[in-house]
Order: sequence, then C-alpha cells, then structure tokens
Amino acid sequence: MAKTHTDSDKRIDQPTGTAFVGHEWDGIEELNTPLPRWWLWTFYLTIIWSLAYVILYPAWPLIHGATEGVLGWTSRSQFADEMIKADAKRAPLVNALAAMPVEQLVADQNLYQGAVAGGAAAFKVHCVQCHGSGASGSKGYPNLNDDDWLWGGDIVAIEYTLLHGIRNPDHPETRASAMPAFEGILAPAEISAVVSHVQSLSGKAKPNAQGAQLFATNCASCHGVDGKGLRQFGAPNLTDNIWLYGGDPATITQTVRLSRQGVMPRWNDKLDRATIKMLAAYVHSLGGGEAVPPPAVAAKREANGANGQP
Ligand code: HEC
Ligand code: HEC
Repeated sequence: MAKTHTDSDKRIDQPTGTAFVGHEWDGIEELNTPLPRWWLWTFYLTIIWSLAYVILYPAWPLIHGATEGVLGWTSRSQFADEMIKADAKRAPLVNALAAMPVEQLVADQNLYQGAVAGGAAAFKVHCVQCHGSGASGSKGYPNLNDDDWLWGGDIVAIEYTLLHGIRNPDHPETRASAMPAFEGILAPAEISAVVSHVQSLSGKAKPNAQGAQLFATNCASCHGVDGKGLRQFGAPNLTDNIWLYGGDPATITQTVRLSRQGVMPRWNDKLDRATIKMLAAYVHSLGGGEAVPPPAVAAKREANGANGQP
C-alpha cells in the first residue's frame, strides 16, 4: 500500500538525518537523497555544450546534407587548410629541388636525403602496383634494389626514364627499343640452340657453338657481343643470372619466340618536376646508386665507345 506525499509528511529518518519522500511500500520508505551537485552540473554542462555544438557546427542531418552551423566549418575546408599547411611545409624542399640540377643533387646530401624521403612516400602512391612495395619487382617489372639496370642507374638516367617512360607509343622522347619476335625469323631448332647459348652465359648450360653463332648475328647488336647488355637499347645483361622474365629454358624460349616489350608510363604529364626528382633520388638510393659520369668523362667514353675508360 503506497502513501502519497503531503506537506505534513516532512519527517526525518533518524539514523541518516535524511528526509523521507513520503512513499512507502509494505513498510519500506523512500529517502530523499538528491543527485550529487557535481554530477548535476556536469549533466547540465553537457546539455549546454551540445546546444552550442548544434548552433556552431554542422549537426542535424537533412535530406540533402546537414544543418550548416554558424562557424561555416566543414571537414572539407579543414582538409584543404591542412593541405595548404602541408604544402607550405614542403615548399622549401620543393623550391630547393626545383632550383637544383638533378646531376648535382647527390652531392648535396641534405637535399638528397630530403628528396629520398619524399620519393619514398610518392613511390608508395604511384609505383608499388607494378614494382612492389619494397620495389623488389616481379616478372616483367624490374627489381629496383639490385643496382642492375636496364636503361641506366645514375640519377640523370633514372630521371629520364621517369620523365619519358618506356615504350610509350605517343611520346617521341620515350625510352624505346623493340626486340624482334624471332618466331618465323629463326627455325625452332635454331631458337633452342640460341636459348642454350643464353643459358650458358650465366653458367646454366654447356657452350653451344651453333647458338653462339646465332647470338652473334641476331642478338649481339642489342645484348652486346659478350651478352652483358647495352643500356642504350634497354637490353638486359644476360650473364648475371638476374632475370626480368625468367632464366629457365621455357621462359627464355618464350621471350625469344614472341619478344616482350615491357611498357612503363611516363610521369612528366602526371607529376610535377620536384616529385619526379624525389622519385629519382629514392630509386637511385635503393640500389646504392651509380655516379653520374662527369661531362668530360661521358664525352670521352662516347668517343671511345661504350666501354672506353676515361
Ligand atoms: C604500369 C606499371 C608500372 C608503373 C606504375 C611504374 N613502372 Fe617502372 N617500370 C615498369 C616496367 C614494365 C619497366 C621495365 C620496362 C622494360 O622492359 O624496359 C619499368 C622500369 C622502370 C625503371 C627502369 C629500371 C632500369 O633498370 O633501368 C625505373 C627506374 C622505374 N621503372 C621506376 C618507376 C617509378 C619510380 C615508378 C613510379 C613513379 C614506376 N616505375 C611506375 C612498369 C611500371
Ligand atoms: C633490338 C634489340 C634486341 C635484339 C636484336 C634482341 N634483344 Fe633480347 N631484349 C631486348 C630488350 C630491350 C629486352 C628487354 C625486355 C623487354 O622487351 O621488355 C630483351 C630481353 C631479352 C631477354 C629476357 C631477359 C630476362 O631478364 O628475362 C632474353 C632472354 C633475350 N632478350 C634474348 C635475346 C636473344 C636470344 C636474342 C637474339 C635471338 C635477342 N634477345 C635479340 C632487346 C633485343
């Protein structure tokens, strides 16, 4: 049986000194113990805070978008601001890179290290899908860590490769060369002889006189008489047991019969020059990096043929 509260019920519970509310159930009576002050104030503050939030910031979802809030804040504008700040932070590096001829970059260790770090980040965005996350490559996509280069491993050559790409049909300055498909040029028996010779170059097969002869007439113009490759044609070194497509007889046979002609996009129409310099520095740093031939040495080398000594 519950009693209802009236003013005449202002009785005090003796042991606790707390007033009764006046509710009673089967002899058990309710005491009037209010919520602690601090709790109540925290509660009121959260209400005030949320009201302020709703007024200041985007809050209530509508059918299209949401209420805007008087501050005009949006996550997009915050992102744009952060990008502007990030660009401002990058600006000294970008400007210094823009002013620095790429062949002098390696000598300026501070700038070079900054560029390598920037290049590592850009590589994750633009290059990993083909060259792999550690730049270690896969079939048809060269490993960039091994200092074994198709087109050249000094920073100027790397930058050129990045700017102009490899075998881009619409771009006259692209790296280009086309190994012919030898099916139809050589008989099947000749192809298998030349494949044996290629295998012998890295010590995986016995010398094959007919294959060596065929190699000299059909292949040496690009891969070199000794099979060590020629960079002006992007023709790989066939003696080092580092393979772009594979060194087993079946894979080499397929390469010779059908040829490959790997394509890399050019980046000069997608990335700014400073980013390309950063990427060149990063790729250059991976394999240890070759030095740029000084102009006098390069000219002399040209005069002496590709292997001439300075
Ligand atoms: C769509 C795939 C693809 C993407 C993306 C790509 N590459 Fe390549 N890259 C290739 C292929 C294929 C080759 C080898 C082509 C050949 O056979 O000569 C190559 C070759 C290279 C070479 C020449 C290596 C040598 O030995 O001379 C460099 C340097 C290089 N890539 C760097 C990069 C960088 C840096 C990026 C990112 C900006 C990148 N690549 C993005 C496919 C790609
Ligand atoms: C016009 C220049 C040219 C000629 C001629 C040429 N090659 Fe190539 N070869 C290349 C290039 C460039 C590549 C790089 C692969 C690509 O095209 O993507 C290559 C790749 C290869 C590969 C793949 C190596 C690897 O690492 O997987 C083999 C093997 C090869 N050539 C063997 C031969 C043989 C054998 C002949 C002669 C019968 C020959 N090539 C003639 C330019 C040439």
